[in-house]
Amino acid sequence: MTDTKQHITVIGLGAMGRALAGAFLEAGHPTTVFNRSPDKADELVGRGARRAESVTEALEAGELTVVCVLSYGVARELLEPAADALAGRTIVHLSHGSPADARELSDWVADHGGAYVDGGIMSVPQTIGQPGSFIVVAGAEEAVERTRSAIAVLGDPIDVGRDPGLAPLYDIALLSGLYGIAAGAQLAVSLIDSGGGDVELFRGTLLLPWMEAMLPFTAGVVNTEGTMPDEFNATMQAAVLESMIASSRAAGVDEALTGHLHASLALMRADAP
Ligand SMILES: NC(=O)c1ccc[n+]([C@@H]2O[C@H](COP(=O)([O-])OP(=O)(O)OC[C@H]3O[C@@H](n4cnc5c(N)ncnc54)[C@H](OP(=O)(O)O)[C@@H]3O)[C@@H](O)[C@H]2O)c1
Repeated sequence: MTDTKQHITVIGLGAMGRALAGAFLEAGHPTTVFNRSPDKADELVGRGARRAESVTEALEAGELTVVCVLSYGVARELLEPAADALAGRTIVHLSHGSPADARELSDWVADHGGAYVDGGIMSVPQTIGQPGSFIVVAGAEEAVERTRSAIAVLGDPIDVGRDPGLAPLYDIALLSGLYGIAAGAQLAVSLIDSGGGDVELFRGTLLLPWMEAMLPFTAGVVNTEGTMPDEFNATMQAAVLESMIASSRAAGVDEALTGHLHASLALMRADAP
């Protein structure tokens, strides 16, 4: 039996779009690419991709088009002049934006006879197609199922529901978790550096293992009420945060993050039943 791979179009060849198109080529999918600045397609064309000269030509190349550009606004700007080519085709939209953006674009594509799946890429270009890469996807069940195997080339598709706005919701929530961790890690390294500690020793031998050990516990106890879990002992945590603020101040390190955490803790305690 011959394994004929589905044709896939990729619109948007920034750092992420090039990684997506490269993964489809690597997996043996006939791939057509389009980008506002056409030179970004050169390397992919050298690897076997077909270059489309317009968005209409890109959409007409096949049934499935992946769009990954700066924003939903840019995606809409690109697709609008090619709207007649949407009928009977499927858009998997992977640019970053809000739940409202996703619902609006989904409705607009549906108004032109197309199917729509929204996705949030939880990966960086370097890890597209690698183990651990995943994509939160949302949209009509039939469209999500039909596009599952193509999306799986990029990362594990995690279906988060039928409302297309759920994909950006989960994406933004995941990024909020990560950015909080990144801000904490930055503060930690600044404290070590300002106090004459060994940053490399700290980063590899202490910070990473500490975070790996503590994260499952922390993610497991946070709750939707925003209250301090009993396990955390709010009185003790307040004393720790006050000492962290004083140490940051003494070291000349920005105390905005610890001050914010202290204020959040006060709120949690005030709200506690
Ligand atoms: N990079 C990451 O680590 C990462 C991770 C997860 C999600 N994402 C999301 O993936 C999307 C793309 O990210 P990226 O890293 O590829 O960004 P990027 O390298 O800055 O690429 C931006 C893309 O948008 C296009 N674009 C911007 N303004 C345009 C306009 N007015 N008209 C037409 N095209 C326009 C660019 O075309 P030109 O080449 O012509 O400028 C390019 O194809 C973003 O929504 C981002 O949040 C990125």
